[in-house]
Amino acid sequence: MKKSNVSVKVSSPGKVHLIGEHSVVYGEPAIIAAIGKRCYVEAEKDDAVTITSQNFGKSLSFVFDEVKAFNGKITELWNEAYKNQNFSNLFSITRNDPINYAKVAVCIALEKMKMRGGVSLNINSEIPFGAGLGSGAALAVATIKALSELYDKNLSTEKINNIAFEVEKFAHGTPSGGDNSASCYGGLIWFEKGNPNKIKSLKKEVPYELNNFVLIETKKSGRTTGELVQLVRSLKEDYRNKRIKAIGKLTYEMLEVLKNKGFIKMKEIINEAQKNLAELGVSIPEIDEICSSVRKIDGAAKLCGAGGGGVVLCYHKNKAKLMETLKDLGYRPIEAELGVEGVRIE
Ligand code: MEV
Repeated sequence: MKKSNVSVKVSSPGKVHLIGEHSVVYGEPAIIAAIGKRCYVEAEKDDAVTITSQNFGKSLSFVFDEVKAFNGKITELWNEAYKNQNFSNLFSITRNDPINYAKVAVCIALEKMKMRGGVSLNINSEIPFGAGLGSGAALAVATIKALSELYDKNLSTEKINNIAFEVEKFAHGTPSGGDNSASCYGGLIWFEKGNPNKIKSLKKEVPYELNNFVLIETKKSGRTTGELVQLVRSLKEDYRNKRIKAIGKLTYEMLEVLKNKGFIKMKEIINEAQKNLAELGVSIPEIDEICSSVRKIDGAAKLCGAGGGGVVLCYHKNKAKLMETLKDLGYRPIEAELGVEGVRIE
């Protein structure tokens, strides 16, 4: 008989969109890589629910009975928000602080898994929060997997991904599901929102390592992913759709380029994607300046995730030269491996 776990440690990676953020919300595809920065979650059986994290600088503890009431409240707020297409009331509870996101993740997971007991969670994340790297999605995926292991639920990766998507909805309103899928499955994926979503590993098409990319962090966005998605939605339809379609077309081109290692063309595609994202209003002057400096040395750069600040993905065939340029601009480049393993037990 399998011995029941008293405590478990699980981790799940952050992600970076090589291309396709925002357009993916409108049904266009995205190419997303899991990155070598992970969120670690340690879980222990407990009567109450306790969340601690050195990242959040605070902890949270509540009685198990609160789970149902909390989920009822956020579900009601989501339904109302969806009807009015205004998620501000929901975000004021779920988004202001990463510990609130952790609360949503654990409460939804406990209810979806029909748990009768609580859990004590300790979260330690290497992924900067609110920076476009899917920190929340990774936290949700790791939390759900940890609970599944702890209480011997043996949830499949697909099921974990579905619950993580529910959590993401409470944090972002109407997300595509790409972030949680990249974190869950890992590697490099082709993602298309739909019924059901299309999630395809690109391991066969891209069997080599994606080197020559670095990430840098700009000022954090003051706006949530949901707010930035809403901002794009509020643009004039013709104007918006032209850019969304353009990014969609670039994504198909990117797949061909990745297959054929056409790195010169890839550079153009990344820069063109950034141009379209900027026209959608989700770039900021600091990111525009970085992208322009990288283009000047014959490289490519684009914002990541919802934008409004956060991380910039930079590419150059000469990585050392790229690093030097970014350092000269006053940034500390983050060298993160792309295409790493998805959620796993540590
Ligand atoms: C956020 O990381 C990516 C967006 O496309 C939103 C989403 O896909 O849910 C902006």
